[in-house]
Parts: sequence; structure tokens; C-alpha cells
Amino acid sequence: MKSLRSVPRAPKSLPLVGHLMPLMRSPLEFLNSLPAHGDLVRVQLGPFTLVVICDPELTRQALVEDRVFDKGGPIFDRVREVVGDDGLASCPYSAHRRLRRLTQPAFHPARLPDYAKAMSTCIEEVADSWHAGQTLDVCTEMMTITSKVTAATLFSGALPPGELGPVLDDVKTFFDGFYQRMFMVPPLDRLPTSGNRSHLRARARLRGAFDQIIAQHRAEGVDRDDLLSALLSAHDPEDDRRGLTDAEVSDTIVTFFLAGTETTAALLGWALDLLARHPEVERRLHAEVDSVLTGSTATHADLPRLELTERIITETLRLRPPGWIFTRTVTADTRLGGHLLPAGSSVVYSPYLIHHRPDLYDHPETFDPDRWAPDRPQPPRHSLLPFATGARKCIGDTFGMTEAVLALATITARWRLTHLPGQQVRPALGLALRPRRLHMRATPRVGAPPQRCAPAPADLA
Ligand code: HEM
Repeated sequence: MKSLRSVPRAPKSLPLVGHLMPLMRSPLEFLNSLPAHGDLVRVQLGPFTLVVICDPELTRQALVEDRVFDKGGPIFDRVREVVGDDGLASCPYSAHRRLRRLTQPAFHPARLPDYAKAMSTCIEEVADSWHAGQTLDVCTEMMTITSKVTAATLFSGALPPGELGPVLDDVKTFFDGFYQRMFMVPPLDRLPTSGNRSHLRARARLRGAFDQIIAQHRAEGVDRDDLLSALLSAHDPEDDRRGLTDAEVSDTIVTFFLAGTETTAALLGWALDLLARHPEVERRLHAEVDSVLTGSTATHADLPRLELTERIITETLRLRPPGWIFTRTVTADTRLGGHLLPAGSSVVYSPYLIHHRPDLYDHPETFDPDRWAPDRPQPPRHSLLPFATGARKCIGDTFGMTEAVLALATITARWRLTHLPGQQVRPALGLALRPRRLHMRATPRVGAPPQRCAPAPADLA
């Protein structure tokens, strides 16, 4: 293979393992240290070399040239183990445009008001199930919201309440082991360790649950006006009206469920954590939700006036982007930033790294939602990438933003969440960046609009 030697190597590579230690122990600090060494930096992972892109414009170039910088590399090799090769997020360039054409209608802006209605109901159900003084496992609660929303909007609630719990456990197991597995070279990932065994079991059960839903939808043959029905009846006008194969439908459904739940849940977890650390921002948010919401549940109609809520979500996406690191594989010799990247090279891009560059953001470690206020100078283009860009940009960006704004407004209209004494919150590194063991106490808001108390659904009690 041609050489990557012109790309500077990150310092402190150890024999045999390379940079494995800092990548496993403190990957965020490690990523943030790389721009000091160049716009592209070589990182060694045992026998594998990865090229990390540290510059926003070069990141944009790689994302836009998705034929040459195709899905692949250590992250997508692992993602494909679960979602298959035929899902929208993991499929190669050659299959992507057709799949995107067939799935895009489900995310048409005209569908958003209906989705928002279902979102408000699911958010309200979960926020109403808490009681005063309860200690919440915040990430679990947020995953319950996002998976209920995904099931309700994309599969018309085809996941019965009793089945949601086990599916959530499997999703959690899958995400928990993900980051460590990414760096496991074969055959280590096949050893019968308890971690590998539970990961494999969770994978198999998840596929089984979704394949069952698909089979049921097919057998019933009813158009439920949801994503799954759209996929089952899709005919591509640009491709001999060919529909989706069973494998494509199955991989895409699993993809939507995984891509749409953990990311938005992590975002909400971080937003609640950051708010509790910034009482002045929290106070202003309370004032906003109290004046905008007519009841204590945010709806689609409230969105244009929830300006601070949206800025808080945007700033959380900058500071703690759930999609923090992704890989690509180079499919043909190419040049990037003046360096030759031979076909077969693995490339890393990281929204986290770009969002924390001090030359792009003043005080990048500071949580400052007002940096997104219209009267403040905006950061350079392409320096905010929480949903990526180009043809592989997140298909659920508006869906996820809407869900996050509605959830944050509804939760903070009813509850004040505070940390437990002495609690240290660190990031858990999985496929998504989320707060590890974030437990918070729920106190009803004094002066907040009255709460409508509904009994907790059986699967959440
Ligand atoms: C705040 C929430 C979300 C964040 C931060 C996020 C982030 C991202 C990012 C960064 C990518 C690009 C990955 C890459 O470059 O390899 C992506 C792709 C994708 N996301 Fe999201 N996402 C979110 C919510 C959602 C939701 C709600 C859905 C679906 C309901 C979704 C479905 C997808 C899919 C299918 C792709 C692949 C798109 C393609 O390759 O054409 N995401 N997301």
C-alpha cells in the first residue's frame, strides 16, 4: 500500500499498541490535542493506522465527497454487525442514493406536525410518571422517551408497551459495549467473555424483535401511514420502480431505531446536566417555558417561540455532540489537505474535535447558549457539524431537534432536576457520547402550570 508518511503522526505512540491507551482512557482529551499537530494527523491503533481530520473545511470536503470517503473503517465495521450492510447509515455509496430516495419521504417537513403530536404525548407520559423527590436515572428516562417516540412515529407503535422494556435493555447493552468493541481486533471480539456474549445476545434479540414487527406489518398488508409502511410499499421511479428487499427494509428499520433513540436521549441527558450547572440559564428557560406554553406540555405550535430552549439544545449539540466520532474508508487514491491518502486508508472525523477548537469558538469549554443569539457573530461555516453534512447528513436532524426542544420545554415546565450531592458526571463513550450514571432528583416546579397526572404505564412503573 502507498504510504501515509507525509501525514504527521500524533506523539507518544507506544510500540505494538500505538495510541490505544489514550484512545481508550481519555479519547476526548486526546482528540482535542490533535489539531496542534496538523490538519490531518496519523493515529496508530495496534497494527491499524487512522487519519484524523482536524480541520473543518477538510472535514466538509471528506463528507461531501462520499464516493471516495465511503462508509467504512472501524466504527462502521462494528455498526454493520448489527444493522447489516443494507441500512441507510451503513450502506456503501453504491446503494445509498436509492435508499435515501426511498426513505426521505418519511421525513418530509409536512409530516412533522403529526410526528410532533405523537412526541408531545410520549414526552408527557414519561414526565408525568415521575413523583416529587424521585431520583431519576436520567439517561434511562430519556431513552424511554426517545424509543417511545420512535416506535410511535416510525412503526405506528407496533412495539407493544410490554416489549419496549426488553428492547431498551438490548439497545443499552449494544451501545454500552460499542466503543470498546470498536478497538477489539479479531479474534478478541469473538472470545466467549461475558461482555462479548451479552453483546451478541442483545444483537440477535434486537434483530429478532424488529424482524417480527416487519413480518407482522407485511402479513397485515395495511398502510398505516408510517415509515415502515412507506418502506414496504416503496417503488423507486428512478430505478425501474424496484422496491426494497427484505434485507434492506430490516436493516433500515433497525438503523432508524438505533440512530434515532440513543442520540436524542444523550442530547437531552446532557442538556439537563448542563442546565443544573447553570442556574442563570435555567432561570431564563423557566421564564420562557412558563410564558410560551399554554399548558405544561410543549406542542408543535410553541416551537417558533421556544427560542432560548432551541439555543440551549444547539449549544448542547456543540459542547457534547452525541455523534462525536465517525470513520470512513478511502475507496480510491485521493488528496486531502495536500496529502495523498491511498485507497484503503481509514479516516476519522469528529464533530467533538471541531466543536472544541479554540480558534473557531471563544471559550469552547464554556456552556453559552447565547453564542447562538442572532445579534452575536456566528462561528465560521462548517464549524458546527452535529448532524454532519453532504449526502450522508443525518436524515433525522429536524425530527431530532423537534423532539429535543419539545422534551426539554415539557420537562422543565414541570420539573426542576438537580444533581445528587457530590455527583461527578463523566462522559460514557459509546457510539453516542452520553453522560455516565447521571442521577438527578426531580422536584415539582413551584409556580409552574398545574401538572396533569397520569398513571405510569405498566412497562415504566
Ligand atoms: C440529536 C439527535 C441526532 C444526532 C446528533 C444525529 C447525528 C447524526 C450524524 C452525525 C450522522 C452522520 C453519521 C456519519 O457521518 O457517518 C447521522 C446520520 C443518520 N442519522 Fe442521525 N442524529 C440524530 C437523530 C436522528 C434521528 C431522530 C434519526 C431517525 C429517526 C436519525 C437517523 C439517521 C440516519 C438514518 C443516518 C444516516 C443517513 C444517511 O447516511 O443517509 N438520526 N446522524
